[in-house]
Amino acid sequence: MKPIALTGIKPTGNPHLGNYLGMYRPALRLMENYLGMYFVADLHALNTMKDPEMLNALVYEVAASWLALGLDPERAIFFRQSDIPEIPEFTYFLACSTSKGLLNRAHAYKAAMDENLQLGHDPDEGINTGLFYYPVLMAADILLYGSDVVPVGLDQKQHIEITRDIAEAFNRTYGKVLKVPEGLIDESVMSIPGIDGRKMSKSYNNTIPIFAPEKALRKQVMRIVTDSKRPEDPKDPQGDNLFNLLQFFASPTRLEEIRYLYINGGAAYGSLKKELADLILSHFAEARQKFSKLIDDHAYIDRVLTDGALKAREIAKPILSAVRKATGID
Ligand code: TRP
Repeated sequence: MKPIALTGIKPTGNPHLGNYLGMYRPALRLMENYLGMYFVADLHALNTMKDPEMLNALVYEVAASWLALGLDPERAIFFRQSDIPEIPEFTYFLACSTSKGLLNRAHAYKAAMDENLQLGHDPDEGINTGLFYYPVLMAADILLYGSDVVPVGLDQKQHIEITRDIAEAFNRTYGKVLKVPEGLIDESVMSIPGIDGRKMSKSYNNTIPIFAPEKALRKQVMRIVTDSKRPEDPKDPQGDNLFNLLQFFASPTRLEEIRYLYINGGAAYGSLKKELADLILSHFAEARQKFSKLIDDHAYIDRVLTDGALKAREIAKPILSAVRKATGID
């Protein structure tokens, strides 16, 4: 059997180019050499998301996005975290092998505490234990299926280290029961520039959304920040937002032409932006069409996710029963 590559996807809506190039595309490429397991991490959303309808809508949106962008449910296992009852059970077993100090040092919890301290509040004010246990739940996600590699962004690096620590602690006590996974962080695609040149991120409001209506998408591309140089002025392509984004979508020959125009004069920002918008729209034409069909087909998405959960549980069951046996809870 192929080794397993597993990744969890937080249900946030409106995927943008940064998500696609930094996360979707590298994760989906792994399907060639690994058994891909992809799941919507809805339980992980619960510590912040308190609106049940919104949460549910986001689960469908993110599921439709992955399916539209090439997740093939025949080849990969695609499921919803909360459809796996073994997860909360396993989380508890792992919690008993997790030192509290390890979780005290987790970035998200520490940041929330530090903020309280800065404001002169009680350090735990407004912090629920879901946030505190987040890394244990994530370790359960990864270790329950014996995952070999976990493709994630740099922001998740510590969570992978914590997962490895938890697995090793469990194995020290009970013998080699859990597979210790490797994180897979692709540094080359880490930071995709947004329309203002900072990292593309929803929190900076500088994204180019993939599934937005054509008009909105074009408008966002036209808002890419450039300097005030005229078309005939020579420009430095290095570090230029617009050029950086063109690199991902223009053909190699066209890119060389554009580079020449930048350096020697003749690159007009307005028309290059229009060209970029056209390239993005044609690159995602099929995905956009698929997305608009899928987003309202909840029955189909439910079917895919339910099927995926059955397959995931088949992989999980022997591992959880080994855990139960090893601990004496048999
Ligand atoms: N914490 C991850 C994020 O915020 C999502 C996630 C949950 C995950 N469980 C996982 C990622 C397991 C990889 C493996 O993006």
